[in-house]
Amino acid sequence: MPRPTSKINLGVIVAMAAIAWSCLGAFEVKELPPPRKTGPLSLEEALSRRRSLRSYRKEPLKLQELSQLLWAAQGITDPRGFRTAPSAGALYPLEVYVAVGEVKGLKPGLYRYHPSGHLLEEMAEGDKRRLLAEAALGQPWVREAPVVFCIAAVYQRTTKKYGRRGIRYVQMEAGHAAQNLCLQAVALGLGGVTVGAFDDQQVKEILGLPSDHHPLYLIPVGRP
Ligand SMILES: Cc1cc2nc3c(=O)[nH]c(=O)nc-3n(C[C@H](O)[C@H](O)[C@H](O)COP(=O)(O)O)c2cc1C
Repeated sequence: MPRPTSKINLGVIVAMAAIAWSCLGAFEVKELPPPRKTGPLSLEEALSRRRSLRSYRKEPLKLQELSQLLWAAQGITDPRGFRTAPSAGALYPLEVYVAVGEVKGLKPGLYRYHPSGHLLEEMAEGDKRRLLAEAALGQPWVREAPVVFCIAAVYQRTTKKYGRRGIRYVQMEAGHAAQNLCLQAVALGLGGVTVGAFDDQQVKEILGLPSDHHPLYLIPVGRP
């Protein structure tokens, strides 16, 4: 069992460093609106309504909705650093990126979610959705959704403890995070689809991911 307290301290340090760096104008870090912890839809209703949604109204998402979706995928829910989704050994090998096309108050670009501090870090400017859709074998919903999440795996965080078995743990975790995100979308009156068919290398290049961040899922989300 790792010591989540030391991890949270490290997370806070990383978040503070990111804010300090952004103050120097190197890149932008945005504090997201706090996520709500209650909602009008029961889990049973969200489960029974969830369906892969591949066509979206041409309407931007609100920043509050984006905040809630990111929190559902990987948000911190415990002072010890534990999150909305379970993680083998609490090693948290997933990174959530979001390609923003149309979100009120956020310019189009690629952003990375920092669970510590519930922050969004701008990684690159410009709308990545068209290129992502091409990398996803031309699937139009990747181009047309106002936002496309990317769940990426940093396998080493888990395999250094669990060896080869860690690979399956990380992939299971991506499923947990994706399902949380999909159910949260339903609870917000939104919808999404989990996309696994894409060229890994192309997605990595389009998003400019570090070499040890491996995309597992693309999840376009929008309004039905
Ligand atoms: C691992 C995985 C990969 C998937 N990849 C794609 C995909 O590339 N494109 C797509 O449109 N749907 C994809 N789907 C969604 C499935 O097509 C969908 O879940 C299935 O048709 C059942 O429909 P439902 O999600 O509405 O229940 C994927 C689902 C899973 C679990």
